[in-house]
Amino acid sequence: MTEIEEIEQQKEYIKKVKELNKNRDLKYSILTMGCQLNENDSEKICGMLEQMGYKLTDKIEEANLAVFNTCCVRENAEERLFGKIGELKNLKEKNNLIIAIGGCMMQEKHIIEKLKKSFHYIDIIFGTHTLHKLPEDIFTVLEEQRKVKDILDIDGNVYEDLPIKRNSKTTGSVTIMYGCNNFCTYCIVPYVRGRERSRKPQDIINEIKDLAKQGYKEIMLLGQNVNSYLRSEMEEIKQGKLIDENGDYKEINSFAKLLRAVNEIEGIERIRFQSPHPKDFTLDVIEAIRDCDKICKLIHLPLQSGSTEMLKKMNRKYTKEQYLDLVDKMKSMIPGVKFSTDIIVGFAGETESDFEDTLDVVRKVNYEQVFMFIYSIRVGTPGEKMPNQVPEDIKHKRFDRLKELVEGQIAKTSQEYVGTIQKVLVEGPSKNNDKMLTGRTETNRVVVFEGDSNLINQIINVKITEDHLWYFKGEIIKNNDISNVIEV
Ligand code: 5AD
Ligand code: SF4
Repeated sequence: MTEIEEIEQQKEYIKKVKELNKNRDLKYSILTMGCQLNENDSEKICGMLEQMGYKLTDKIEEANLAVFNTCCVRENAEERLFGKIGELKNLKEKNNLIIAIGGCMMQEKHIIEKLKKSFHYIDIIFGTHTLHKLPEDIFTVLEEQRKVKDILDIDGNVYEDLPIKRNSKTTGSVTIMYGCNNFCTYCIVPYVRGRERSRKPQDIINEIKDLAKQGYKEIMLLGQNVNSYLRSEMEEIKQGKLIDENGDYKEINSFAKLLRAVNEIEGIERIRFQSPHPKDFTLDVIEAIRDCDKICKLIHLPLQSGSTEMLKKMNRKYTKEQYLDLVDKMKSMIPGVKFSTDIIVGFAGETESDFEDTLDVVRKVNYEQVFMFIYSIRVGTPGEKMPNQVPEDIKHKRFDRLKELVEGQIAKTSQEYVGTIQKVLVEGPSKNNDKMLTGRTETNRVVVFEGDSNLINQIINVKITEDHLWYFKGEIIKNNDISNVIEV
């Protein structure tokens, strides 16, 4: 069966479940763990469930169907999930709740064994490659009253045209590729998400054009390694393993070309992407960022460690100097460019001097935002077997030192925003005060200000008046008078 036929079949199952659910006021709850790719998967899960007649509730006690979309990138998630499933036992008996658990953790054998042993009342277990079959799985549970385990160990295909219910009205998340080929030695992702597979350029462009028509202003292109978009496919074409019969890859055959094509789409005003890999930051990508006015000049550039020795152990394929050179090159080619990053503290064998190298890079780059993680051993990765694991107390102490440095730098940079005018995409009423609006600068900083709700989903000029560490207060600039004010 082709992917298109498979999706057609699932659409039939959606209709069948809808018929079974007719005239019943059914509700679902969903818990999403982990990254934005998982969030985007959950948007598709919600899209399918709503078409099957389920309505979203945030009260699990009133749900007829509970879905967990799991992540296994870092620790804690396992205990949290097991705790949550444990809590559902009573509800299962009381409300005849259907429990469906999916996502990355379900691709791990030791998790499946634990679920089988301790939580036999789970109805559906689905993996990362079988998300699109949820309608069929639910139908099986309802019609045949049996449990379903739907996990594929081989790499999945790329499925288009799944229903989707988006979380945001301003930013449209668009997954452009699945999987990862990099095998960083600390990371579980390549084992649970499989090899890199890119969506066809035209499918992505069509999805973004549709988002633009719906009024979305910002697009977030997602993938585990976005700047190797289409790399595997182009290699296969070169080797004659993939024949480009319909000319799908003729015009857009790289990430840089995709960026340029998205930049042309009318209605879209901001483009972000996450996450690129420093080793794949080729000149054409930097030039595309420089040339395309809609691409936000805040680039996420995961560092992981500042020590060349650690980077080698992590299999990151760049040195401290190469990373810093890349930052310098981008700073010289892209005026005003800023960076955010991911850093892991306490990977196996990290010495005090390795950690100092990380602090050194942080001082030199002066990031806008740093996502800091304490290394957690993942079962089945090379990192698990490495000698000289760093004791927990040292990891925590180093983490605190890094945090202090980062917070100090960010506090200083934040001060520099005060008095400047920023272009802010208005997202909606502020969570803490619904009389205020909230939005984000191009550098992804949150700004809260007074304004009319008809400004939602527009990009407006806001003068930053106060810095509150995690957000700014601002004032809308009338008449768009931005003379005499320095822009950051
Ligand atoms: N321990 C801690 N952090 C990790 N990350 C990935 N694997 C691990 C791990 N085992 C972090 C990396 C990655 C981010 C998404 O999660 O920094 O970029
Ligand atoms: Fe994990 Fe490395 Fe792939 Fe990122 S690039 S998903 S850190 S293996």
